[in-house]
Amino acid sequence: MTESQFSFSSRFQLLGDLNSENKIYQTKQNLEKTGNEIFDLTGSNPTKLGLEFPPSALSHIFSNLDLSQYEPQAEGLESTRQAIVADYKNRGIQTTTSNLILTASTSEAYSYIFKLFTNPGDEVLTPNPGYPLFSFLIGLENLKEVHYPLKEDPETGNWVYSAETIANCISTKTKLIVLVSPANPTGSRTTAQFWKEWETLGIKIPILLDEVFVGYEFSGEPHQIPEAPNFPLFVCNGFSKMLALPGFKLGWILLQSPEVYQSEIQKNLSFIADTYLSVNAPIQLATPELFPWKTMIQNRIRTRIMRNLAQCILFSEENLKIINKPAMEAGWYFLIELNLEKKDEDIVLEILTQTKVFVHPGSWYGFSHNRCILVVSLISDEEVLRNGLLALQTFLK
Ligand SMILES: Cc1ncc(COP(=O)(O)O)c(C=O)c1O
Repeated sequence: MTESQFSFSSRFQLLGDLNSENKIYQTKQNLEKTGNEIFDLTGSNPTKLGLEFPPSALSHIFSNLDLSQYEPQAEGLESTRQAIVADYKNRGIQTTTSNLILTASTSEAYSYIFKLFTNPGDEVLTPNPGYPLFSFLIGLENLKEVHYPLKEDPETGNWVYSAETIANCISTKTKLIVLVSPANPTGSRTTAQFWKEWETLGIKIPILLDEVFVGYEFSGEPHQIPEAPNFPLFVCNGFSKMLALPGFKLGWILLQSPEVYQSEIQKNLSFIADTYLSVNAPIQLATPELFPWKTMIQNRIRTRIMRNLAQCILFSEENLKIINKPAMEAGWYFLIELNLEKKDEDIVLEILTQTKVFVHPGSWYGFSHNRCILVVSLISDEEVLRNGLLALQTFLK
């Protein structure tokens, strides 16, 4: 077949230049190849950072299941959904299994909701700063991502949701609004006050509320799901952050919609789920046995975060070149803003080559290139973080 006989989908053009060489990753790879030890402060895979689900417990759980069974059920097994409903109940959120649809990941949950409400060319609102994954999830559906800004609180340095600001970004093409709470990487949350303001605006556009980091809040006004929203609400979560099981591929959508829309939404979402039937049977069977481990898994991760947070705060306080000291109230990330007149990617490259410390530039998450914001993972190995911050301190002197 010659090249002229086929063409790739135009959705790849919507995603931007996928072949663009990432100089920072390339430099890191070259340094590693030549035997340098990198202080990687960006790791967010708990299974590589000593925070994995206990392997012996996993073996035990799966060895006691009858894995030969398969019930092709669009929404997922009733027993699996019951276990998830019970977990919501423990959080004070009343729901039923008919309001839950299982997916193979939270990312897949996004794609189901996009299919439910959008046509090619429609707009989806996402927070900025925010997590770059959303641009790809949206672009792959032939949709257009439109950012709404998070507001920076001048007193605390925290980034917060503003109902009015989001509403101002809505156009006639807006079909869905994405809120992430706690947000990656800012820790922003949809608080009770936010929902009160949002509901007052009377906007009926569906909302996707991503709460994958919900177990990881430390201070400030807590994350909330509205009890009886006056708009269609889709709460997405999954095991990757909740149970440190990113490889087990279980996510879900919880519907919290006004009664009038509920049955149509359920029917259409079930149709999408039934078409793919992507959730594997073993994880569904294991789910009721996995939930009892949640407290232990999350306590371990929270302890890691609190210890690393203390290190990061001390580092920020002792360093005169750091200008912004947000409290970082939730989530897995810490933001360090440097008082340097340089592009953030240039400074990250300099830090990497001179100190072998690897951090993410803030612009990868939508912060301005000129703000020199560095993003550090709070689930980093504690020793690696300590050594990395020491090296960074020397660099900044
Ligand atoms: C805010 C947020 N949502 C969704 C995801 C994707 O989660 P999953 O692994 O369940 O697809 C991530 C991954 O890091 C994330 O940070």
